[in-house]
Amino acid sequence: MQESTYTPRLWLVLIISLVGLLLVIPTAWAQTNAVADANEKCMLCHENPNLQVERNGEKVSLAVDADKFKSSVHGMNTCTTCHAQQAKIPHDPVATKAEVTRHASESCSLCHTAVVERFKLSEHAKSGQVTCTSCHTAHEIKKSDDPQANTFRGNIEATCTSCHDGEIKESYQESFHGKAVSLGSTKAATCVSCHGAHDILGPDNPESMVAKANIPQTCAQCHNQPKENFAVGAEHFVLKPQGSGAPMYFTFKFFTWLTIITMTLLIIHIELELYRKYKLARRADNGSH
Ligand code: HEC
Ligand code: HEC
Ligand code: HEC
Ligand code: HEC
Ligand code: HEC
Ligand code: HEC
Ligand code: HEC
Repeated sequence: MQESTYTPRLWLVLIISLVGLLLVIPTAWAQTNAVADANEKCMLCHENPNLQVERNGEKVSLAVDADKFKSSVHGMNTCTTCHAQQAKIPHDPVATKAEVTRHASESCSLCHTAVVERFKLSEHAKSGQVTCTSCHTAHEIKKSDDPQANTFRGNIEATCTSCHDGEIKESYQESFHGKAVSLGSTKAATCVSCHGAHDILGPDNPESMVAKANIPQTCAQCHNQPKENFAVGAEHFVLKPQGSGAPMYFTFKFFTWLTIITMTLLIIHIELELYRKYKLARRADNGSH
């Protein structure tokens, strides 16, 4: 009895799904085509690798790689989603590259409102020198779990140190975390584990993940039972006699010399011991004659 009531319903569901699919596929197809057609229009000029303009005496390339854009997370969007200012062809003239960057970057907030709001409070936004594309690129954005993404954990060091080179870069590369991540660790800390990605603040800001009072909590994300004093001491230090690395520098030097002196004394001791044994052996030899 049960079965006879279920069978017709199953057929009904199948038929409705099929009709639905037949309606949806052409619509989706048409939409994809509409986007492709619209972007084709822009690419007539912008696919040319030699297309460039001069802005403030600097040559700026206007070429866009069509394949890379199509395989990016935004490949299904029209160019004018982010470049409304350039919808008109020929475009209204713009004065600076910064103006283009600003307009296009504002478009991110159409869809990523929460990230944009968080970013506004960061040291990066306040500096006026860092935009979304500084870390993500404009047209080649990939999801962070894609090994090709700038924000893939194995690539984060390179992304951040393109600006923060010098001691920050060196100290991270020398650290346990840096070495582990470069060897493919999926657990050790990247820059973003300790600093955040969009809400980065300097150590002097009490809200920062690396403000003195918040450091234990930042480490506790992964080190859940740290020993006392675990999170004390500078994170970014290089072994130099000045600055935050000084205590480690002198400790390192002290133990290096301690080792050298101990080893030298040990070797002298062994040699004297051998010499004594040699002399005793010779005396014994002489005595037997
Ligand atoms: C006929 C060729 C042509 C077409 C088609 C074209 N562009 Fe352009 N585009 C240019 C040129 C030339 C410039 C430099 C403008 C200037 O300096 O006056 C430019 C500049 C730009 C810029 C600003 C870059 C900068 O720093 O100045 C963007 C963004 C842009 N185009 C996007 C688009 C989009 C989106 C489309 C499609 C809706 C499109 N373009 C279609 C030729 C074209
Ligand atoms: C998801 C948003 C987004 C989409 C979609 C997008 N762009 Fe852009 N584009 C940007 C941003 C942001 C910049 C500014 C980059 C910068 O200066 O850091 C930019 C810059 C440009 C420039 C200036 C030169 C450059 O590379 O910096 C051109 C030309 C351009 N885009 C053309 C296009 C074309 C053509 C398409 C469609 C195939 C397209 N864009 C799609 C966000 C987008
Ligand atoms: C200083 C580098 C940096 C800047 C600047 C930056 N991002 Fe990110 N973003 C990252 C990193 C790294 C990740 C990967 C997240 C992680 O590993 O925690 C990420 C992840 C994301 C994600 C996916 C995960 C999420 O949190 O939703 C989106 C969306 C995103 N960013 C958008 C933006 C937008 C929009 C801007 C500009 C307002 C921006 N990003 C500026 C580094 C940056
Ligand atoms: C029209 C809406 C729209 C706009 C505008 C837009 N995005 Fe996205 N973005 C999306 C969608 C949808 C996805 C997810 C795609 C997917 O899941 O395959 C995405 C994905 C991303 C990701 C990858 C997230 C992850 O999971 O790792 C980043 C990073 C990102 N966007 C940054 C930006 C930046 C930067 C801008 C401005 C230049 C921007 N987006 C503009 C809709 C948009
Ligand atoms: C294990 C956690 C951790 C990791 C990983 C980490 N940092 Fe830090 N970072 C800190 C702490 C803690 C501070 C506060 C000052 C200090 O102790 O050196 C800091 C300070 C900084 C500062 C500010 C320096 C100053 O003196 O104002 C910058 C910039 C910075 N880090 C960038 C990076 C970059 C880029 C990476 C990746 C290459 C990175 N950090 C990786 C914990 C970390
Ligand atoms: C396009 C260049 C650029 C990139 C990429 C970049 N930064 Fe920055 N960063 C800056 C600038 C500029 C400032 C503000 C001025 C300063 O303090 O050096 C800053 C400030 C900081 C600060 C605060 C320093 C302080 O003392 O106030 C930290 C921490 C930091 N960045 C970490 C990172 C991390 C982590 C990444 C990668 C996810 C990253 N940055 C990527 C340019 C960059
Ligand atoms: C994203 C996770 C993560 C964060 C955040 C993190 N670590 Fe680590 N750390 C690891 C992993 C994984 C190892 C590898 C060995 C292990 O499991 O103990 C490690 C190893 C270390 C080591 C060397 C080995 C050991 O256990 O003594 C030290 C020291 C260390 N971390 C200090 C810190 C400090 C200090 C902080 C905070 C400023 C911190 N870590 C934040 C994941 C993290």
